[in-house]
Amino acid sequence: MLNPFYYGQVATGGDFTDRTTELKELVAELDSGARVFLISPRRYGKTSLAFNALAALKERGVITAYIDMYDVSTVEQFAAHYARAIARATETKTESIVGFIREVIPSLRPSVTISAEGEISVGIEAAPKKPELSLLIKDLLEIPQKAAERRKKKFAVFFDEFQEIRNVGGEALEKAMRSVFQRQKDVGYLFAGSKQHIMADMVLNKNKPFYKMGKVLFLGKIPSGELSSFISRKFGATDKTIDAGTMDEIIKVSHAIPYYTLHLCHEIWSGCADIKKVPRSAVAEAVGRIVQGLSPMFLSIWDSLALTQRKLLQAMAMASGTDMFSMVFINTYRLGSASSVQKSEALLIAKGILEKEDGVTVFSDIWFREWISGRSRDAAGPDEAGLTNRISARTRFTRTQND
Ligand SMILES: Nc1ncnc2c1ncn2[C@@H]1O[C@H](COP(=O)(O)OP(=O)(O)O)[C@@H](O)[C@H]1O
Ligand SMILES: [Mg+2]
Repeated sequence: MLNPFYYGQVATGGDFTDRTTELKELVAELDSGARVFLISPRRYGKTSLAFNALAALKERGVITAYIDMYDVSTVEQFAAHYARAIARATETKTESIVGFIREVIPSLRPSVTISAEGEISVGIEAAPKKPELSLLIKDLLEIPQKAAERRKKKFAVFFDEFQEIRNVGGEALEKAMRSVFQRQKDVGYLFAGSKQHIMADMVLNKNKPFYKMGKVLFLGKIPSGELSSFISRKFGATDKTIDAGTMDEIIKVSHAIPYYTLHLCHEIWSGCADIKKVPRSAVAEAVGRIVQGLSPMFLSIWDSLALTQRKLLQAMAMASGTDMFSMVFINTYRLGSASSVQKSEALLIAKGILEKEDGVTVFSDIWFREWISGRSRDAAGPDEAGLTNRISARTRFTRTQND
């Protein structure tokens, strides 16, 4: 039997659960040509939700396009990717897609290649001068509205990881977008982003081009009850049962963050291939295997960190939920002073190891926290030398530490 749990790819169909209210709202907004900002930390399910909304819109006859800003690092590349996205949305035959791309970005002299699977990629062979490029971008951004009018249809464009626009074209590109988008009546835009402070700055800061450009939707976690019954159903459909206590453990360990919950379930399921009733111990074993598998990567990250940063991470892993600036915390884990904690925190956030979630600083990757706490757990005390020795010596994980 196939493992019914998937993670790391867009969840659709029977793999997509809950989000009914959000989905309805997105579909209605985009269908009416509105602009929506969808914001949440990574791995909460923005891309999945957005794709499901686009699928629903497509069923209603809306033309839909998708562009992932993580694929783009220059304005020229943006033009190429955008041209491709619009071409795919409006044309059906491969040759007309290719023709369309050549036609809309001529000054970039696009080189279009088609893989054996029919995947089209666009390279750029010329770098036009700035004013020329700006005009090209404006013209490109106008296309969806023109296509919508010509076909008497609505158009919806989804920009994923939109905060990256700032690295691509800075405020100039944002300004160009604003001036074009706000005049378009038949095109809905969805801007999803996981760097919350940048996204918030874009729409809530009145000095920025996107200020009040659209509705802001903060995507929360899937309610635990929903997530649990979705998971139970999946175990049930593959002839396995799971009791409520084990279920609670899964939700707790994975922080009810969809990606982690699904990852954990995938691992639990594969560890119980021949067992009908999933035992409670399967959760800790699965966490152990996941963390073990990621260990080489975590070790190299660990190696790259300064001692003060490691100490802070260890303290946070062992005493999660504690105020990291409290004197008790700082003294117990010998972290020096509040200002040194603040400095390490800022550096770790810049490295993407920590992130702010609703104003609280947390590990970006919960498995990294498990890795650190698993290795520090049996150490005699918060003594850096002792911990570090154990960290290199120990590889076994016995149980998982929760909040
Ligand atoms: N509504 C959902 N139902 C079931 N699984 C989901 C849902 N949303 C997200 N997931 C799971 O979480 C993973 C990450 O979701 P994704 O949409 O990529 O999040 P984001 O774009 O916010 O980083 C998916 O691969 C999937 O396994
Ligand atoms: Mg995403």
